Amino acid sequence: LLLERYGEPALVDPAWSEVLASQLGHRSVRRYRPDPVPEAVLEAAVAAAQSAPTSSNLQLWSVIAITDASRKARLADLAGGQDHIRQAPLFLVWTADLSRADRILKVRGAGPGNLDYLDAFLTAAIDASLAAQNAVVTLEALGFGIVYIGAMRNHPEKVASELDLPPLVAPLFGLAVGRPHPDQSASVKPPLPQSVVVHRETYSTDGEFEAFGRYDSVLADFQRAQGQSPVGWRPVVADRAGSPEALHGRERLRGALLALGFPLK
Ligand SMILES: Cc1cc2nc3c(=O)[nH]c(=O)nc-3n(C[C@H](O)[C@H](O)[C@H](O)COP(=O)(O)O)c2cc1C
Repeated sequence: LLLERYGEPALVDPAWSEVLASQLGHRSVRRYRPDPVPEAVLEAAVAAAQSAPTSSNLQLWSVIAITDASRKARLADLAGGQDHIRQAPLFLVWTADLSRADRILKVRGAGPGNLDYLDAFLTAAIDASLAAQNAVVTLEALGFGIVYIGAMRNHPEKVASELDLPPLVAPLFGLAVGRPHPDQSASVKPPLPQSVVVHRETYSTDGEFEAFGRYDSVLADFQRAQGQSPVGWRPVVADRAGSPEALHGRERLRGALLALGFPLK
């Protein structure tokens, strides 16, 4: 598994842990079998999500579980026409949810406290991300395939209106869930070498461009094997991070969050 992940031998033995072995086998799945995801599996995923740590036990997230075909189709359109959202039997939208805490403060006659600060939104986004990834680890261990959908932030107000989100609830990302289709051919995508992302004691960029060069060719091999154009990694970074337009609407996220009731002070 590690060889598949990094393309080179490593110190770690995946047999140390079934969790590690399952995590090393992750790949985003974008084709699913149509069978519904059993309610018990959703319950297990949410139990895993709620087992994640949460800042000050505030639990500033909610998840919307969607199985209705027409709603999934509308959300797929809002995400730039991503067909896997339509196809997945279950689509989860993970939200930063400050509204529960706000309702509690209001009933107590208190003002917004500190929920109108940027840090509250960030805390909620961190909590939701930790929760979602815990759910993913469980779903994958149970044999389900997933893909995250950041494009839920392309049109946050329209997604909020589709899901009846109250003020102070913002969609962060979606998660398409289903049994992998037998024809789905995604394999494990190699990440950057650890030397690039792990800094010992202090941050260092020594040797990173040599590592980028090696990684470009590792990723080009992966892309070729997947039937994609073998461009490597840096051109992908330049394409995705190189212009505001590449954000497909998310370049106005700050304004959208303000409209959804997050002052982000
Ligand atoms: C927050 C987040 C948002 C993402 N958004 C999308 C998306 O909108 N559409 C998509 O097809 N993949 C999306 N992905 C999947 C990434 O492209 C994928 O995780 C990455 O290329 C690594 O590949 P892997 O998951 O197969 O290892 C997203 C991943 C994350 C973590």
